[in-house]
Amino acid sequence: MPQSSVFGSNRVLKNLLPRHKRKTPPTLADDVPFGRIHTDHMLVCDFLPQKGGWQPLEIMPYGPFELSPDSVVFHYGQQIFEGMKAYRSGVREDEVSLFRPQLNAKRFFHSATRLGMEPVPEDLFLQAVKELVNVDYEWTLPMPGALYIRPALIPLDQGVSYRASQAYRFFIILSPAKNYYAKETSVTVAVERSDVRAVPGGVGEAKCGGNYAGALPALARARAKGAEQVLWLDGLEHRYVEEVGAMNAVFVYDDRIETPGLSGSILPGVTRRSVIELARHMGLRVEETRIDINQVLDDARSGALKEAFGCGTAAVISAIDSFLDGDERIAVNQGKIGTTTLRLKEALVSIQTGKAPDPFAWRVAVQCNAH
Ligand code: PLP
Ligand code: COI
Repeated sequence: MPQSSVFGSNRVLKNLLPRHKRKTPPTLADDVPFGRIHTDHMLVCDFLPQKGGWQPLEIMPYGPFELSPDSVVFHYGQQIFEGMKAYRSGVREDEVSLFRPQLNAKRFFHSATRLGMEPVPEDLFLQAVKELVNVDYEWTLPMPGALYIRPALIPLDQGVSYRASQAYRFFIILSPAKNYYAKETSVTVAVERSDVRAVPGGVGEAKCGGNYAGALPALARARAKGAEQVLWLDGLEHRYVEEVGAMNAVFVYDDRIETPGLSGSILPGVTRRSVIELARHMGLRVEETRIDINQVLDDARSGALKEAFGCGTAAVISAIDSFLDGDERIAVNQGKIGTTTLRLKEALVSIQTGKAPDPFAWRVAVQCNAH
């Protein structure tokens, strides 16, 4: 029996697993590798022009899609995704909040537009996220865990002629999340001097799978050297810092923090924006600017650079303990996590998890009911 929507104006069809067929959600004590375990349900919503556009939201048991080998999704790289989390934000298990989900909805819209895809209306996106979290909220791990939310959009058209698809599938899957990095406290980053992640005018500010595929060989080289992430430089001069893997980069100097300005080739991170706003609120000066890697490394050597960190939804705030540049290892703050990094992380996580007041109205509560 279709149920009507609880969080918005779009119709929601729910085909839920009976309780006895559902899996037992892990606890914090379990080994939960990032993104490998999924909740019982997923959400699917198709855009079908011949049926008038967006179809009802459908929540169904998690499972595979059947797609023809000539589907556009397998050939021309029209694919985008988002990454966000739901957090336990109260003492009760059913008190769960999202963090600035409107920004993810907006970015998803822009990513789709950049890849020539049908953008998901922001209200549909937000409703979909809330509806699915409402069904599987019991999988939200308490602090330092969360529920990772992965919305994605793929084309549905078939045929290998090169063109934009007309039909699309918007879907969301969920995973209980603990740590993104095996080494929780800090990361080592390898400065990438040859490959680039993005170029001006390209798709760097879209969250599309191709950006991540092109980054894989450099990531493998970084890992072979003992680093967790790649520090990307700009595509023209190979000189200015862009991002660190799946995180935005932040550098701390006394009472000032610096982060690369949004040049068009950098993913505009929700965490980056929140860190900037929190830092200003704490009285730190924030500069969004061009950051020369050679200056950063000199400053790390001299100690002028006090701290550095990467920030992102999956990774939260991860201190950078050292840079690897060719064969040289340059430590930051003697490899120790600095106080500004810790203060910002604490402030951010406390708002996300309801431990602190929410002066900026960033939390969006999800109404959770047992199903
Ligand atoms: N940069 C890249 C390439 C990413 O994949 C991510 C993660 O989503 C970020 C930055 C950080 O963005 P956000 O804070 O919105 O998660
Ligand atoms: C995120 O931080 O949400 C991401 O999408 C990063 C991903 C590569 C795991």
